[in-house]
Amino acid sequence: MTVTDLPRQSARPTNAMSEAALLSELEQVVETNLNRHLSTAKEWFPHEYVPWSEGENFDGVLGGKAWSPDQSRIPEIARTSLILNLMTEDNLPSYHRAIAVQFGQDGAWGTWVHRWTAEEGRHGIAIRDYLVTTRAVDPVALERDRMTHMSNGYAQPDSYDAVHSVAYVSFQELATRIAHRNTGKVSQDPDCERLLARVAQDENLHMVFYRNLLGAAFELDPDQTMRAVANVVQQFQMPGSGLQDFGRKSVMIAKAGIYDLRIHHDEVLMPILRQTRALERDDLGAEGEIARTELVEFLDGLDTAATRFCERREALLAKQAARREK
Ligand SMILES: [Fe+2]
Ligand SMILES: [Fe+2]
Repeated sequence: MTVTDLPRQSARPTNAMSEAALLSELEQVVETNLNRHLSTAKEWFPHEYVPWSEGENFDGVLGGKAWSPDQSRIPEIARTSLILNLMTEDNLPSYHRAIAVQFGQDGAWGTWVHRWTAEEGRHGIAIRDYLVTTRAVDPVALERDRMTHMSNGYAQPDSYDAVHSVAYVSFQELATRIAHRNTGKVSQDPDCERLLARVAQDENLHMVFYRNLLGAAFELDPDQTMRAVANVVQQFQMPGSGLQDFGRKSVMIAKAGIYDLRIHHDEVLMPILRQTRALERDDLGAEGEIARTELVEFLDGLDTAATRFCERREALLAKQAARREK
């Protein structure tokens, strides 16, 4: 989702801790949170969530039945959203590289990065197995989309250092959790909903990990962290934004209430900002205050845009309902 087309990137505060010093200071926090994660996360198996008995051979090598849209039991909007979510999970090697390069592969950072990658990999496996077995989406189009999306790869903005990355993934994991959950609801399929609710539980633990790191970064260097948060919030885009037709698809997803500006503001940005006390901190210097003012102004604009969007959507839905009654 493109929240803004006008990035207002500003430089690091003058007395900011170096990236290496900050990463090394955060290592202890990573270790504590890694241990908390490992003791909280419950093992689960994708194969248990897939209704295999509904499966059937496809045309091609095995000479089975070709896919056609009428075989799908989930609404079109759920299909669109599931494909976007799956593409994001599939692009894991690119995200892994971005995170491993940024955080390093030694010690607790390395253990976390590998564990996180393994958990995200499980999401792609589970969702693809479900979609193909239940013939929910066109498997040929799905594979072509995957090839295109992964061939493009993923790159963070060049200006993002480690604090920016921690801020970005905190918001992104929460956004993903909500997108999975709401997609499950609109699928009107209990199997799909159960699977996506399980995936969303993982995303929640990922969010908690990164949010705790962000909180620790605020304690270590409030001004630098506030600047990073202000930049990331203003430039936020979901990782699937490089996909073909992403703009049109994200409008459909917003209209269906799976992920829209109101959800983005109320259920993604504000909870992270509240948990890290970003808006009420009293330890900011002059540069941190400038970044926070920028952030608050942006949030106000976003809130207004979200209200306008929801009003327009309600009016549109009311008009459609009236037309159906005629
Ligand atoms: Fe995931
Ligand atoms: Fe995740």
